[in-house]
Amino acid sequence: MKTRGALLWEPGTNSGWTVEEIEVDPPKRREITVELAASGVCHSDQHLDDGVIPLPWSPVLGGHEGAGVVTEVGDEIHDLEVGDHVVLSFLPSCGRCRMCVSGRSNMCDLGNGVLGGTAPDGTHRVHARGKGVGCMSYLGTFAPYATVPVDAAVKIPQDIPLDKAALIGCGVPTGWGSSVYAADMQLGDTVVVVGIGGVGINAVQGAVHKGARNIIAIDPVGFKQEQAQEFGATHAVGSYEDAAPIVEQLTNGQGADRVIITVGVATGDVLQPAQEMTRRGGVMVLTSAAPVMQRDMEFDLFTFAMSGKRLQGSLYGTTNSRNDIPLMAELYRNGDLKLDELITRRYSLDDINQAFADMQAGANLRGLIVY
Ligand SMILES: NC(=O)c1ccc[n+]([C@@H]2O[C@H](COP(=O)([O-])OP(=O)(O)OC[C@H]3O[C@@H](n4cnc5c(N)ncnc54)[C@H](O)[C@@H]3O)[C@@H](O)[C@H]2O)c1
Ligand SMILES: [Zn+2]
Ligand SMILES: [Zn+2]
Repeated sequence: MKTRGALLWEPGTNSGWTVEEIEVDPPKRREITVELAASGVCHSDQHLDDGVIPLPWSPVLGGHEGAGVVTEVGDEIHDLEVGDHVVLSFLPSCGRCRMCVSGRSNMCDLGNGVLGGTAPDGTHRVHARGKGVGCMSYLGTFAPYATVPVDAAVKIPQDIPLDKAALIGCGVPTGWGSSVYAADMQLGDTVVVVGIGGVGINAVQGAVHKGARNIIAIDPVGFKQEQAQEFGATHAVGSYEDAAPIVEQLTNGQGADRVIITVGVATGDVLQPAQEMTRRGGVMVLTSAAPVMQRDMEFDLFTFAMSGKRLQGSLYGTTNSRNDIPLMAELYRNGDLKLDELITRRYSLDDINQAFADMQAGANLRGLIVY
């Protein structure tokens, strides 16, 4: 079908998105087509444009945080039908590989190919100007229709508003799960969240859920500090330097139990101040994307080993999409998870470059493209 989508023709060059006509193919075996209600604007798509995540192919249809209604199903699909409401998971889960069956579906074998530039079978579902288009995370939610692997779609109840549900595709589980699962947070913990964007604000929500006693949010933007407190942070400051005396005072000088890093880009200087703020035996969680080729970083390895600290990477918040996406939808329905308040601004697809500019300026918790 002909529709419009936001493409990068020269990824990694900061040239911005062009919104133009695209052709979206019908579903093949084990695929579905979804009419999207909305797509969140996540920093990981920005990384395709600025080169933090380099792509050796083009063009790319961006967007990996969406939800919508199934309009067509391909062969061999028994668990979804036309009319079902789904959240799209930016990492597919086959349900059969070793990682899936051992409760680590964020690391499903299928996920290895999400930045490969084609559908899992090596062909394209989207075309523009006569060329095959790769889709971010097999999804490409910067278009009102997407043909995606059924393994990347998770059914949710029909009464959950789809525009809000879109955020459960990436930012909400990634942030919430970074606290709840990756950090293995405990009741009464003192927690620092560094970077209050669409991901970090949900790490604050996760810390609230786990019963953290003190939640210190760090973000240089005043609006983010205010929002963090609305979402349950007990303290909000602009820098590691400003947070240090607060953490010291709250913990009798021991340091924070958990420090979760959700800044826009994980530069090499982001970990050492986090380590200095972490107590002996405490956990640092790194959720942010770093420039893929970055190898150098500042990190005191002696103290790291001799104080028994842990550094934990966090992919998709270590969530299992088939369990956690419906869980989050239900938490929202029960009033235990904020989604409405995450959406600072709504945009039309044509204003996508403005949405990214606003994200870069720190103006949004999450921007949402609405179809
Ligand atoms: N691990 C995963 O599975 C996963 C999933 C989604 C996103 N991400 C990554 O998470 C990161 C955050 O994404 P987002 O969409 O929330 O971005 P965002 O732009 O919405 O938020 C980033 C926030 O970090 C703040 N910030 C920047 N530098 C800072 C610093 N030195 N100290 C404190 N705060 C600082 C910014 O002001 C902004 O509020 C990105 O790198 C993104 O690619 C990772
Ligand atoms: Zn994302
Ligand atoms: Zn799998």
